[in-house]
Amino acid sequence: MSPDAGSAGTTLSLTVNGETRRVTAAPFTRLTEVLRHELGLTGTKVGCDAGDCGACTVLLEGRQVCACLVPLGQAAGREVTTVEGLAVEGLADQGRLSPLQRAFHLHGAAQCGICTPGMLMAAADLLARVPQPTERQVEDALGGVLCRCTGYRKIIEAVAAAPKLAAVGNLSSDAEDPSNLAVGRAIPRRDGLPKITGDDRFGADTAPVDALWLRAIRSPHARATFEVGDLAPLYAAWPGLQRVLTAADVPGENSYGIYPHLKDQPVLAAGAVRYRGEAVLALIGDRETVESLPAEQIPITWSPQEPVIGMTAATATAAPQLHEASDGNVLIRGYLEKGSPDAAFAEAAAQSDGRWTTGFVEHAYIEPEAGYAQRDSDRLTVYGCTQAPYMDRDEVARVAGLPVEAVRIVPSACGGGFGGKLDVALQPLLAVAAMVLDRPVRAHFSRTESMTATTKRHPSRISARAAAEADGKLRALDFEGDFNTGAYASWGPTVAGRVPVHASGPYAVPHVRVRSRAIYTNETPAGAFRGFGVPQAAIAHECLMDDLAAQLGLDPLEFRHLNAIRPGDTTATGQLLEHSAGLAACLEALRPDWLKLRAEAEAFNATTAERRRRGVGIGCMWYGIGNTALANPSEMRVVLDRQGRLTLYNGAVDIGQGSATIMLQICADALGLPIEAFAQVVGDTALTLDAGKTSASRQTFVSGKAAELAGLDLRSKLLRLANAGPDAKLHLERGRVEVVEGDRSRQVKLARLDEDLEGYGCFDPPTTPLDEKGQGKPYATYGFAAQVVDLSVDLDLGTVELHRIVAAHDVGKAVNPMLVEGQIHGGIAQGIGLALMEEYLPGRTENLHDYLIPSFGDVPEIDIHLIEDPEPLGPYGAKGIGEPALVPTAPAIFGAIRHATGVVVRQAPALPHRLRALLREAGHG
Ligand code: FES
Repeated sequence: MSPDAGSAGTTLSLTVNGETRRVTAAPFTRLTEVLRHELGLTGTKVGCDAGDCGACTVLLEGRQVCACLVPLGQAAGREVTTVEGLAVEGLADQGRLSPLQRAFHLHGAAQCGICTPGMLMAAADLLARVPQPTERQVEDALGGVLCRCTGYRKIIEAVAAAPKLAAVGNLSSDAEDPSNLAVGRAIPRRDGLPKITGDDRFGADTAPVDALWLRAIRSPHARATFEVGDLAPLYAAWPGLQRVLTAADVPGENSYGIYPHLKDQPVLAAGAVRYRGEAVLALIGDRETVESLPAEQIPITWSPQEPVIGMTAATATAAPQLHEASDGNVLIRGYLEKGSPDAAFAEAAAQSDGRWTTGFVEHAYIEPEAGYAQRDSDRLTVYGCTQAPYMDRDEVARVAGLPVEAVRIVPSACGGGFGGKLDVALQPLLAVAAMVLDRPVRAHFSRTESMTATTKRHPSRISARAAAEADGKLRALDFEGDFNTGAYASWGPTVAGRVPVHASGPYAVPHVRVRSRAIYTNETPAGAFRGFGVPQAAIAHECLMDDLAAQLGLDPLEFRHLNAIRPGDTTATGQLLEHSAGLAACLEALRPDWLKLRAEAEAFNATTAERRRRGVGIGCMWYGIGNTALANPSEMRVVLDRQGRLTLYNGAVDIGQGSATIMLQICADALGLPIEAFAQVVGDTALTLDAGKTSASRQTFVSGKAAELAGLDLRSKLLRLANAGPDAKLHLERGRVEVVEGDRSRQVKLARLDEDLEGYGCFDPPTTPLDEKGQGKPYATYGFAAQVVDLSVDLDLGTVELHRIVAAHDVGKAVNPMLVEGQIHGGIAQGIGLALMEEYLPGRTENLHDYLIPSFGDVPEIDIHLIEDPEPLGPYGAKGIGEPALVPTAPAIFGAIRHATGVVVRQAPALPHRLRALLREAGHG
C-alpha cells in the first residue's frame, strides 16, 4: 500500500477481482461506496449499511465480509472479490458462469435477486474451504445474509448442488424435454442471469451522472404542527444545497393515495404531521451536502400534540378526529351477512369464541426504495423499484401537475415488494424535485428511513365465534375485525373489504356475519402486505376450527375435510363455486404425513423426560385471486416484426415471483413457438400496455390469461396468412415463419408484410359488485391451501423449534413448478415471521437488528404437494400462489403449539416471553 495524500482524500490501491485499482477517497469510506460509486461495481448491493442483512457480502482475502462495515483503509493493499469476479472467465459468456452461479440459476435460488450477490459470495467462501458442505454448514456459512423471498431452501439446494456441476454447460434444466411445451416445465427464470452475475440494475444502481440527490426530512413526532423558518441562513451555510422543498413547492396536488376518493397523504406535510417519519421537507443538492446536513440546523419549529396510538385510543369517545371526513377515526367499514347467524348460534351443538390480536409487520424487502426522476422536454420519467408502474404513473402525474401521458415509469429491478412497493413512497418526492429544479434527481432511502416511513401489515384485533352441529358440520360464524390503518388510508379499504369475504375460511358455512373496520391512528400507515388482512383473519378462524374439532372429539384435519368448501357450494358472499376448489384434495394429500407426525409427536410427549413438547398443527386458507369486486383488467401485446424479432410487451412487473418467465411460458405455448424465440419488455409504461399491479396474487391468472390471448391472437394471424388450420406447427427462423400442417409447409416471409404482426390480449376476470350485505361475486376464482407444521416448544424458555412443514397448495396449474415452489417457500418463511418473530414497533424496531426476520436456521425442511384443480378461466387452468403461500403458516404453527402444550395462542407474534407466560398460566411451570 502506498498512500498519497491528496485534497480529495487519500489515494489507496487495492486488488479488486484480480485487478489493481487506485482509489482516492477518505480511508474511512465504506468499501461498498468504493466498489459501487468509485469503481462502478454495482453488483455489490446495499440493504442496511449496518452489517445486518449481508447483501453487500464480498470476499476480503478470500473470506466473507460485509463490505458496508469495511473501511477503505482496511481493504487497501488487499484482495477483494465481488460477484463480478465470480464467473470462471469473465461475464460476457453465460457458459463461463461458475458452477455456483449455474446452480443458483438452475435451482431457482434467486427470486428478486437483491440478496443473491451476497449469498453467492458467502457460498463461495464456504465452498473454497469445504467442497462438499452439509446443510448445517451451508446454514452457518450463509447465515449472515438475509433473504426475504426464497425461504432459503432453494439456496441450500443450490449450494449443495454446485460441486456437482461443471463450469460450462447448458443452462436449461430440462432442455431435453421432448414435449417442447413451456407450461408445466421448471424452466429457470428468463431474467435470472443478471441476478447471478451482479448485472441486474436495481433502483439505487443507476442514475444520470448529473443527478442531484434528495433527502427527505421527516417528522420526529407522531402528531404535531410545525412552521418552517427562514431558510436563507441554511443556503448560505451549505453552498451545495440547491433547494429545500416544502409543501408549497408541489406543482400539482399535494396529495396521493390508492383510491380515487382517498388521496389523503401529502407529498410533503403542510404544517401538520400525522405520524413519526412523515416527510416535511426535501433537501436537494450534491450528495455530500444533503447526506451530511444535520437535521437540527433546519429551522423547523414543532408544536407536538398528544398522538393517538392504537385502535382503542382512536375509537375512544374523546379521541381527536385525525381526518376531517372520518367520524370516530373510522376510515371505512366492511359488512357481510348470509343466512340467520343469531338463530343458528342458538341452535348449534357446539360453539367457540375468542379474541385475537396481531401487530404491525414490516415488509423488510432487502432493497430499500431507490430511484431517480428526470424531466425531458415534454415528459417526466421516473425510474425505480415498484410493483405498480401504471398506478405510479397516475400518482406522479397528479403531484407533478402533468397529464398522465406526460409521465413515464420505468421500473428498475425490484428487490422485493410483498405489497410494500404498491404505494408510492419515493416517486412523488422525486417527481416534484425534478419538476421544480428541472434537473435529474435521485434518492435512496436508508434502511431506517424505509422502515420508518413506509407501510406495514395492518395490526388487527378480532373477536369471533363459530358454531357446528353435532355431526361436525359448520353452522355459523360471527366475526368482528378492526384493522389499524395508521395515519393514512393506503390500502385500508381493501383490507376492510377483503376480510369479510374470507373471514369464514375455506369452509361451507351457511350462516355468516362479518363486520370489519379500518381505523386511523397516528401510527405508521398500514398498507398492502401479502394477504390484505386475510392472514390475520385466518389466525382467528383456524383457531376456532381447532376449538370446535376438540369439542366434538374430531380430528382437526378430518373436521376441516368434512367442512371444506367444494364445487357446488356457495361462499359467504353467496357465490356458487362452480369449479376449482381444491381444499379437500390438499387435505387428502396431507393426511398420511399428518397421521404419522401426530402419532410421533404424541408418542414423544408421552415418554419424554425433557422440558420440551412436540406438536403438529394444521392451517387452511383460501384466497380470492385479484381485486375484490372491482374491475381488474390486464392487457398484453406480442409483436412479430418484419425483421423476425418476436417480443412480448409485458406490463406485469416481476418483483421476484417470476412473472417475467411465467408470461413467456404461457404466451409461447399459446402462439406455438419456443420461449427462446422471445425477447421481452417488462413494465415500462411507454412501451407496454397496462397489466395492472403485481398484487393480490393476480398476475398468473389475470395477466397470464391476457398473455395467452395475445399469443393466440398472433397465432391466428399467422395461420390466416398461411391459410393453415388450427393444429399447424410454427417455426421461426431467419425472418420467416414456416407453417407446417401434416406434410404441407408454407412460409410467411415477414419482410414482405406491410406491417409488423401484433397479437393483443385483454382479460378482466368476471366479478360483480357486493351489495349492502356483502353478497355477490367478488372474485372469479380462489386459491386453496393447507399446511401441516411439526414443531417443539421449550417449556422453560417459551421458544419454538420448527422441525418440518408439509404444504399442499391448489394452484390450478403449476405453470412453472420450480417458481411455484419458490413462492411457497418464501411465503412460509414470512408466515413463520408473522407467527413467531416479527413485530414492528415505531421508534424501536426500525432496523434489521432490532426487527428480526427469519434467517437460514429459522426455516425448516419444507415438503410440497402441488394440487392442480384447473380453473377453466385461467391460462392453462392456472390460478395464483403469491399470497396463499403465507396465509396458512401462522395458524398451523399456533395449532401445533396447542397440540404440544395445550396453550392457545391469541396474540401474534408468539414471542418467547409471551409464550412462556401462557405456559406458566397453563401450569407448565
Ligand atoms: Fe433473496 Fe429477494 S431473492 S431477498
